[in-house]
Amino acid sequence: MLQILCLALCGLLPGTRADPGALLRLGMDILNHEVQSAMEESHILEKMAAEAGKKRPGVKPIKGITNMKVKDVQLPVITLNFVPEVGIFQCVSTGMTITGKSFMGGNMEIVIVLNITATNRLLQEEETGLPVFKSEGCEITLVSVKTNLPSNKMVNKFLDSTLHKVLPGMLCPAIDAVLVYVNQKWARLSDPMPVGQMGTVKYALMSTPATTASHIQVDFSPEVTQQKGKTIKLAEDGGPLEIPGGYAEGSSQLLLSAALLTAELALLQKSFNMDIQDQTIGELPPQTTVTLAGFIPEVAEAYPKPKPVVTQIRINKPPKVTLKTGKSLLHFHGSLEIFTTRRRGKPPMSLFLLETHFNLKIQYSVQGNRLQMDTSVDRLLSLTRGSSSIGNFNEEELTGYITDYLQEAFVPVVNDVLRVGFPLPDLLAIDYNLAELHIAENALVLDLKLD
Ligand SMILES: *[C@@H]1O[C@H](CO)[C@@H](O)[C@H](O)[C@H]1NC(C)=O
Repeated sequence: MLQILCLALCGLLPGTRADPGALLRLGMDILNHEVQSAMEESHILEKMAAEAGKKRPGVKPIKGITNMKVKDVQLPVITLNFVPEVGIFQCVSTGMTITGKSFMGGNMEIVIVLNITATNRLLQEEETGLPVFKSEGCEITLVSVKTNLPSNKMVNKFLDSTLHKVLPGMLCPAIDAVLVYVNQKWARLSDPMPVGQMGTVKYALMSTPATTASHIQVDFSPEVTQQKGKTIKLAEDGGPLEIPGGYAEGSSQLLLSAALLTAELALLQKSFNMDIQDQTIGELPPQTTVTLAGFIPEVAEAYPKPKPVVTQIRINKPPKVTLKTGKSLLHFHGSLEIFTTRRRGKPPMSLFLLETHFNLKIQYSVQGNRLQMDTSVDRLLSLTRGSSSIGNFNEEELTGYITDYLQEAFVPVVNDVLRVGFPLPDLLAIDYNLAELHIAENALVLDLKLD
């Protein structure tokens, strides 16, 4: 009793229900496509029909027909409708011809057009946590029956009872078989998917998918795990994840929260640390004390003779992704330490260290089933001097130079690291390559399209 009370009350307490880290809205477009292709690819009705004539243990032969065969199964037309809080109502319209020897002797041919209807209830399977459709209440409705038998009361009664006896057993398993096929298409949904060598992302369902009058919504609580097994918690400061308005009814979208992208980037944090030894980098002036002295006279005083310099970048906080309508940024906090190189055998000498906060602008794209990011410097937000072996100097003079340096030296490496891509949920053979990407408040929206 107490447990029930808690289930009822605890659900109402604020903060007990976390926001999903990702969300999928499945419209009729994709569901229709999936069920239709499952039906066609599986040739299930033909298979069922082929079985119909065979003797099976435990199944009594139909009185009055011998040598029964089913042929000319028509390509089914499938109509789906959402049933709020239940799942989808499925109607399969098809036709076929039943042949055999009738009780009156002679060849019999019955041409039928019929509807198979069932409710496909959407559940979350307990063992696997995966969404599953289960069919209920399968019924066969005859739309028309034509036969070469003489039309009389006895024949009609025979037809009616025979068809009602034989058809559900013959055709209802087709509905289940199609669902097995559809369910298989999200069987791998919650498998952990690798992010390079750095860890995995798993799209676990947060709850049973919810059905409304216009779509099915799947809430995910993604699990981002480092290779060593440590789970990275998704921040909960992002606010609720909501699909922005403006998408056509019946269309499908996948939303990825800023919190999820941030957690995925945390997997890569160490790869953003780098030691840059090159003397020439992109469009930058040569990496020497002379170049630095152009901004800071104190360098020239300490190093009258030119010396090559190398830079060490250390990112000391997990990078953070922000998403505001139309713009997404990647925030970095870290240090840049510049060293002068010394003669062989001697360690480099630290010139100075700068603490910095800067952000990169992210451009998103999809390749295969992975989200790709490409970045460029947006802004250097702060630059403060830490240690210095050349005394005090005005680090603000370096703002422009460091901004260029980040763009030319840091960004290419970051983009290279990001090329690993973040896996997208593997379900229903969705082709993410066709998706249109929109940056919304707190979420990246993939507007899913069919080819
Ligand atoms: C059979 O299904 C079709 C398509 O859903 C529908 O238009 C038609 O009314 C149904 N016929 C019967 C007799 O239920």
